[in-house]
Amino acid sequence: MHFRLCLLTTIIFGTFASTTAGPLHAQCKVEWFFGIPCNDVFIALVTQIKQWTTADNCAHGGEKCLYKLESADVHFIKAKHTTPVKKYVDDLTFRLLPYPANTNCHVIALSVSEAWYAILDYGTNYCNLFNLVEGSGLNQSPGYKEVTNDFICTQHSTANCTIY
Ligand SMILES: *[C@@H]1O[C@H](CO)[C@@H](O)[C@H](O)[C@H]1NC(C)=O
Repeated sequence: MHFRLCLLTTIIFGTFASTTAGPLHAQCKVEWFFGIPCNDVFIALVTQIKQWTTADNCAHGGEKCLYKLESADVHFIKAKHTTPVKKYVDDLTFRLLPYPANTNCHVIALSVSEAWYAILDYGTNYCNLFNLVEGSGLNQSPGYKEVTNDFICTQHSTANCTIY
C-alpha cells in the first residue's frame, strides 16, 4: 500500500517536473521528415560530420567543428560533438527510417550531454543536430519538416545556432 502510493507520487512528480522544466538532463530529441531517400540523407549527414571534424571551422567562433563519426550505416549514425571552448562532450545518434516509403526518410535524432550535471545547455544539444542538417542543405530538401519542442529538447525555442 505504502509502496504503491510512494511509486505513484514519484511518477506524478517526475512527470510534473519534466513537463514544466524540459528534460531533467540537457538533451534534445528531434524528428525530421525529408522527401528524399534515406541513402541521400545518410550521405549528406556523414559528409557534413567529416567536414567539421577539425577545429578550423570554429576559428571565428560557433560550434560547427569538433564532430567525430563513431559509426555509420544507412539506418543508424553515431557521432560525438565537443564544444570548442569548454570541451563538453555530447553524444549524437540518428535513426533513419524509410517512411512512409523508400522515396522518403524519417529521422529520429538525439543529442545527450555526457556531463550528468548539465541541466541547461542554451540549445547546444539542439544545435549539435540542426547545424548538420542546415550545413548539408538538408533543410532545403523537398518535404522538409521538423518536429520537436522544449519538453523533449532543452531550450529549443530560445536556441541561437549562429552561436551554439
Ligand atoms: C544569434 O546570434 C547572432 C550572433 O551574436 C546574432 O547576430 C543574431 O541576431 C542572433 N539571432 C537571434 C535570432 O537572436
